[in-house]
Amino acid sequence: MALYSEKVMDHFRNPRNVGVIEDADGIGEVGNARCGDIMKMYLKIKDDIIEDVKFETFGCGSAIASSSMATELIKGQPVSEAMKLTNKAVAEALDGLPDYKMHCSVLAEEAIEKALEDYFEKHPEKRKDV
Ligand code: FES
Repeated sequence: MALYSEKVMDHFRNPRNVGVIEDADGIGEVGNARCGDIMKMYLKIKDDIIEDVKFETFGCGSAIASSSMATELIKGQPVSEAMKLTNKAVAEALDGLPDYKMHCSVLAEEAIEKALEDYFEKHPEKRKDV
């Protein structure tokens, strides 16, 4: 069996939603100290919906594929749904990651979590709505 699924390879080669949102409502940056990979997520939120999401990942192919898939999973979703996104869901949507690459999907979960935290800090009144 190939080490990486077709979906991982596809999202690695053609990552979706790469870039920066200049006037983002929430920004989250995380890193993994062991491998040194860094991931940054930008969220644009309107009426409690993730209107747009973009990412920049300085990291391995699995981290790039995970960020790409994670953005696809939350784009257009309510904030409450984005808050529930787990690294497991990201890995499953990619048709799996090798065990030793699961931490790459954790970065995606954490980056989104941090970006949402940033959003709630800027808009504390929204915290109770979700
Ligand atoms: Fe560290 Fe992939 S090897 S995020």
